[in-house]
Amino acid sequence: MISKKMIIGIFLILEYPNLTNTFNIGVGTLNLSDKAKINVNEALNNNRLSYGPFLKKFENLFSEMHHSKFCVASNSGTSSLQVALQALKIYHDWNDGDEVIVPATTFIATSNIVIHNNMTPVFAEVEPNYYELDPNLLEAKITPKTRAIIVVHLFGQPCDMDPIIAIADKYNLKIIEDSCETMLANYKNKIVGTLGDIGCFSTYIAHLATTGVGGLATTNNPDYAVLMRSLVNHGRDSIYISIDDDNGLTGDKLKEVIERRFSFIYPGHSFRITELEGAIGLAQLEELPQAIYKRRQNAQYLTSQLSNLSNQLQLPAIRPETEHSFMMYPIVLLNEPKTNLVNYLENNGIETRDMLPLINQPVYKKLFNINQADYPVSSWIIKNGFYIGCHQDLTQDNLDYIIANIQSYFNNQINNS
Ligand SMILES: Cc1ncc(COP(=O)(O)O)c(C=O)c1O
Repeated sequence: MISKKMIIGIFLILEYPNLTNTFNIGVGTLNLSDKAKINVNEALNNNRLSYGPFLKKFENLFSEMHHSKFCVASNSGTSSLQVALQALKIYHDWNDGDEVIVPATTFIATSNIVIHNNMTPVFAEVEPNYYELDPNLLEAKITPKTRAIIVVHLFGQPCDMDPIIAIADKYNLKIIEDSCETMLANYKNKIVGTLGDIGCFSTYIAHLATTGVGGLATTNNPDYAVLMRSLVNHGRDSIYISIDDDNGLTGDKLKEVIERRFSFIYPGHSFRITELEGAIGLAQLEELPQAIYKRRQNAQYLTSQLSNLSNQLQLPAIRPETEHSFMMYPIVLLNEPKTNLVNYLENNGIETRDMLPLINQPVYKKLFNINQADYPVSSWIIKNGFYIGCHQDLTQDNLDYIIANIQSYFNNQINNS
């Protein structure tokens, strides 16, 4: 007996004869360039793994690309977020239990770091079209205990920063940008990373620039930068963070470093990263503009070829005067839960991920008294939203295969109705 899946297979082969070996389409990619391999070998030949020349160059180039004065590398985006909030809390003398507003749709690390800083996350609803913090609903979440807002530039797109900054200024709140999913994207001609007080980025696997594990925190405030670097290094006196910091010193200067170099000022962490990640990261950053250009093209192609399904699918919208780096390609079904389409795509070798459900996570249900009905947009995204990849290593055949599968899913629905 001929199954439905076989018929679809025959349809795809007839329609797309070039589609061979395209049945394993991931949400992310890793393609280490010759430059990355040369850099790693150079780091190994330098016999230096602790913070050194590669990490310094990596931080400097990242700062330059994101127009920030300072950049501090750590071992993850989560660690960068952790020390960003901790630095603000120490510097501004905030109390345990003070509140930090976070979006109700984001990756769980955004709000976990609030808990790990002994502060309280307050969840605010997101926009139905861009899935990011809704400025219109923000003010209602502010209380006398609110100290900061963590905006999340989700999926590669900056938040609507102007009204958020206006609210933060009105209530004297600090802003952390969780830009772990976004690099090199402008909001009204200003780049992510310095739109708020501190920007945090991730170079984890399948992110826009990848080092395996890694995070970067950007800021224009020298005091925050010094604090964050110390916190990444066990809270150490910043007179001596790297083994180069006593190079060339003699006499009284050296004596002072010797006296202070094993002195710890803050309750810090072991969040350090090695030269190997710095070596890979430097090469990845050099390739990043081209990769993002290709991602934007891929996303544009997917959107144009799926636009006939605008009654069934909400495809990614690009905010006016804003650039999208397309770390992923989010889709929300308008008329049905995602389950059937997601399973259909996965069965045909197209990888998907949930669109960052947060407020329904078992751990948060236990910790917080969240009424999901208070978050209709996030609840809708949880039920109907997922994402697929649109990365730079997808071929034309890959893109056409994704499109053909989504089209055939809805064609089947029409044929079966
Ligand atoms: C929005 C967001 N915040 C934070 C993180 C945490 O980054 P990392 O995995 O490098 O700790 C991620 C990672 O996927 C993320 O997507």
